[in-house]
Amino acid sequence: MATGDFSDRDGLIWMNGEIIPWREAKVHVLTHGLHYASSVFEGERSYEGQIFKMHEHSERFVRSAELIDMHMPMSADEIDAAKMEILAANKLTDAYVRPVAWRGSEQLGISAQATQTHIAIACWEWPSYFGEEARTKGISLQTSKWRAPMPDTATTQSKAAGLYATHTMSKHAAEADGFTDSLMLDYRGLVAEATGANIFMVKDGALKTPVPDCFLNGLTRQTLIQLSKENGYEIEEVQITPEELRGADEVFLTGTAAEVTAVGKIDDVDYTVGPVTRTLRDAYEALVRQKKAAAA
Ligand SMILES: Cc1ncc(COP(=O)(O)O)c(C=O)c1O
Repeated sequence: MATGDFSDRDGLIWMNGEIIPWREAKVHVLTHGLHYASSVFEGERSYEGQIFKMHEHSERFVRSAELIDMHMPMSADEIDAAKMEILAANKLTDAYVRPVAWRGSEQLGISAQATQTHIAIACWEWPSYFGEEARTKGISLQTSKWRAPMPDTATTQSKAAGLYATHTMSKHAAEADGFTDSLMLDYRGLVAEATGANIFMVKDGALKTPVPDCFLNGLTRQTLIQLSKENGYEIEEVQITPEELRGADEVFLTGTAAEVTAVGKIDDVDYTVGPVTRTLRDAYEALVRQKKAAAA
């Protein structure tokens, strides 16, 4: 019986080339990844048996490892095959997929050349990241005191575990004050992203999203830029100040887990779940399931 603890679930996990029972997928406490954050991961969703942007996620997984100077022993094609294998082994068609790669316990210290890269892929059912109320009311964001780092102080284009320490602290602070998530500004004080999703704003029918020069250029973000153009909206990638965001008509987040999630409030400013957000949310939902968007 599963207890809610992620180490105590039924199912199977792909680990270092083998499919093993969920509860046996363990690492030693003297694992380099645990002590020095030498770990990268992915977050993907499978819809009706197909992982959306599967190969792009595998390529980013490989690139994330390279960016933190960690050898990735598998190619993107091999990672694709392993993901499909573990989904099938768990008999899942609609699921969240979590590949993770980390340096092992073969060497423990700052230097890590003798370590091997270990890889695991887990998948489980995960319907909606922010819950159903987010659809109608939108979620709330609190501006974090933590900033997205300068590009030369962190590997900001790597989905590296170490970057998430500030995101967890931010989200805890937001939740303690009754908000759903945090708005992270960057080192210049410009709008960056939420703790696990990118941000878009709508003003007078046109869209804007920040330039991803110090935070993850999400695959969903790239998809939404394309969908916006296809749906006839103007879209600009520009620097956005918090003041400009305060004056937006609509705000929404994008991410593999978050999908397209409306924002109903940032700090003391309220927004409505407007027509642009709804249109693009529908278009995204149709695309990930490979269905044609219903005529607007
Ligand atoms: C910090 C952060 N920003 C943005 C994103 C959105 O990325 P994607 O759309 O590729 O899931 C994620 C999720 O992976 C994230 O963790």
